[in-house]
Amino acid sequence: MNTQTAFRASILHFTDMPKSRSDTTSYQYWKDGLLVVADGKVVAVGDTAEIKKTLPENTQIIDYSGYLIMPGFIDTHIHYPQTEIIASYGEQLLEWLNNYVFPTERKFADKDYAKEVANFFLIELLRNGTTTALVLPSVHSVSVDALFESARRLQMCMISGKILMDRNAPEYLRDTPELAYTESTKLIKKWHKKSRFYYAITPRFAITSTEAQLEVTKTLLKENPDVYLHTHLAENIKEVEFVRELFPQYKDYTDVYDHYNLLGKRSIFAHGVHISDREFQRLIETESVVPWCPTSNFFLGSGLFDVNKAVKLNLRIGLATDVGGGSTFSMLRVLNEAYKVAALQGVALSPLKSFYYLTLGNAKALSLENQIGNFAQGKFADFLVIDLKSTPLLAFKAEHTKSLEDALFDLSILASDRAIKATYVCGELLHRREFDTTSFVHSN
Ligand code: GUN
Ligand code: ZN
Repeated sequence: MNTQTAFRASILHFTDMPKSRSDTTSYQYWKDGLLVVADGKVVAVGDTAEIKKTLPENTQIIDYSGYLIMPGFIDTHIHYPQTEIIASYGEQLLEWLNNYVFPTERKFADKDYAKEVANFFLIELLRNGTTTALVLPSVHSVSVDALFESARRLQMCMISGKILMDRNAPEYLRDTPELAYTESTKLIKKWHKKSRFYYAITPRFAITSTEAQLEVTKTLLKENPDVYLHTHLAENIKEVEFVRELFPQYKDYTDVYDHYNLLGKRSIFAHGVHISDREFQRLIETESVVPWCPTSNFFLGSGLFDVNKAVKLNLRIGLATDVGGGSTFSMLRVLNEAYKVAALQGVALSPLKSFYYLTLGNAKALSLENQIGNFAQGKFADFLVIDLKSTPLLAFKAEHTKSLEDALFDLSILASDRAIKATYVCGELLHRREFDTTSFVHSN
């Protein structure tokens, strides 16, 4: 069966990184556009008047005129077991892990419980317009199974892998180098490149793995060169000091991971708030990726990521929520905080660049740009229908907003989950906002 469906709306997608504030060569925008989908993939996109001529007569057209269609957002670093401890009061990273995170992750030894949270988590992602994520589960293999099983039903593209941790954590959460090896190997066979899934070998961070376990991580990566490596790096000052005490023989935090050959194109090191010039250089040389987590870095008082330097030096970065350190699932609200971090560094993050990051940029950060991130023909039809007037204030402001860039900027600063009118994965409707605030306001 090859039945096509076409979606009509204003349509925006990026084809490249915007080089300047209004780089019109980096994106395509059709005020009255049509996105044609068949078998879960993009068949065509373009101007309605043009595309309509090419469609078979019986093609169903779903009309979202007045709304904006964009590719689904991608979150490059998020923890699903931390959904229930989002917005936990009063601590910085290491105390927060001990007091909130570890006791909560313990519950994920129970598959039924993990499944319940995984289902809620995925729905919350979709409600916020996120269709793909790089996700940390817990140390338990069943927590990986729970996530992938739930995501499989929804046909979502996901990257995840069991956390490895064998020290500096409660006994109940520790594995061993041997278990790290055998369990990860089993999970890679079970999930890597199955459905729309990829596996990430996931030592939590240098503090919670012994040298023996990091050695095993190196072996796992060598034996499975096309899986991802996912961990944390230099998020918090006390964390960096602790790493220096644990690994005095290495140049710095990045060098610990480097010693075990963990840097590379599919290696994702969340945060990088406190890294030296040398570490920047080493991450750049190895094409490693650093997810930038502004909401989390503010919430946990970790510091400001030097995004200006990262962009100037061509470090591969992504944007991420880092829930539950991050206090929102909304990538739009991440953009809001990202803008302020850049502003504090004297840089204005342009709205084009912001939305490039949420879509094609984050797809590139996860080496998934051949599958998702824009509407190139043959990519998965993961997309959002965005309401640019989702609150009375946005609706009011829209009357005075002239350009596409201004509309996108308003979206990034003033909007949140309410703006996501509908979320589609593989061309299937998975979320629809029941209540249209704007029509409610206007009908009263
Ligand atoms: N570093 C090690 N584990 C974690 C975690 O769960 N969240 C954050 N934000 N940083 C970490
Ligand atoms: Zn994290």
